[in-house]
Amino acid sequence: MRAIQIQRHCKPEDLVVSDIPARRPGPGEVRIRVHAAAVNFADSLIISDQYQHKPQLPFIPGMEAGGEVIETGPDVEGLRPGDRIVGYSRYGYFAEEAVMPAAHTFAMPRGMDFVKAAAFPISYGTAHVGLQYRAGLKAGEVLLVTGAGGGVGIAAVEVGKALGATVIATASSTAKLDLAAKHGADHLINYAREDVVARIKSLTGGVDVVFDPVGGDAFRWALKCINFEGRILVVGFAAGERQLVPANHVLVKNATIIGFSWSFYREKKPSVDQYAFADLCRMYEAGQVNPPVTETYPLEDAGKALRRLLDREAAGKIVLTVR
Ligand SMILES: NC(=O)c1ccc[n+]([C@@H]2O[C@H](COP(=O)([O-])OP(=O)(O)OC[C@H]3O[C@@H](n4cnc5c(N)ncnc54)[C@H](OP(=O)(O)O)[C@@H]3O)[C@@H](O)[C@H]2O)c1
Repeated sequence: MRAIQIQRHCKPEDLVVSDIPARRPGPGEVRIRVHAAAVNFADSLIISDQYQHKPQLPFIPGMEAGGEVIETGPDVEGLRPGDRIVGYSRYGYFAEEAVMPAAHTFAMPRGMDFVKAAAFPISYGTAHVGLQYRAGLKAGEVLLVTGAGGGVGIAAVEVGKALGATVIATASSTAKLDLAAKHGADHLINYAREDVVARIKSLTGGVDVVFDPVGGDAFRWALKCINFEGRILVVGFAAGERQLVPANHVLVKNATIIGFSWSFYREKKPSVDQYAFADLCRMYEAGQVNPPVTETYPLEDAGKALRRLLDREAAGKIVLTVR
């Protein structure tokens, strides 16, 4: 099968497609024909050995996909060849086929195509579990989303709206803010040009929950605007700075800073994930969420796609079409 295999840690530009043997599924596993696989910021970390999880070399990157089951291993129940699935993992999907634990797949929502399915699990799982389970976002609250034109950002805008919040989207360009508006954001702030804190104070006075995949300055603005008993979800550090938290500000605002890494729920509390995906499928079928795929590339162009993400050129999600 054709696959991008990492023999030694590298940069996006070094990714190449090669032919490698496919494998049969073992107990509890399914073999998946990958139709489309989305590109994620964390792919750049895993291929350069900077990710928190370090797979043994050689490995195939790619964390999420839309595909169909071709074969099931012993002990697998509830899945059959031909089933259309959404798959998520830490690596393994930049290939024509992937063998994955059956538990790391779920049935595609009705009406979804493979490309959207590839862009669904990580961003939306992160947004749903983060906002609903970790931050306890309630209808009527004000949600601030930083990096709102990115993959997890757009998902947080949509899930926030579906949970009944007023959503303030912040991003660095008009194109990214336009996309956030198209996906339901109520208020838009361009943090390359505007005084974020002053705009938020004039719009809503403050915010109850912050979803922050950017970090650095974005986190500091968030802390200045957080309401009494507000919650700030630390989702990522796309800006490259792991900010320190001034504990005195947290104290005087009675605020809560919430660390959040979605991938651990799969192992430590799978029921949280299962609930989120069932609710997300319902939201998709009700038209409340819609994965924002803005660009597609063939598998051969994985490096180019990843570079666009790292250079902040991409809005929404980029997907590789594999078949
Ligand atoms: N905690 C979790 O469970 C979890 C799950 C998924 C992802 N993440 C993390 O969340 C972050 C965002 O992921 P994503 O998939 O949404 O990525 P993405 O689509 O690339 O979006 C990231 C956004 O961050 C902003 N940004 C600010 N400074 C940047 C810089 N120097 N380089 C790149 N982007 C910069 C960009 O928006 P502007 O140009 O508008 O500033 C960009 O749109 C990543 O750090 C990722 O690892 C965490």
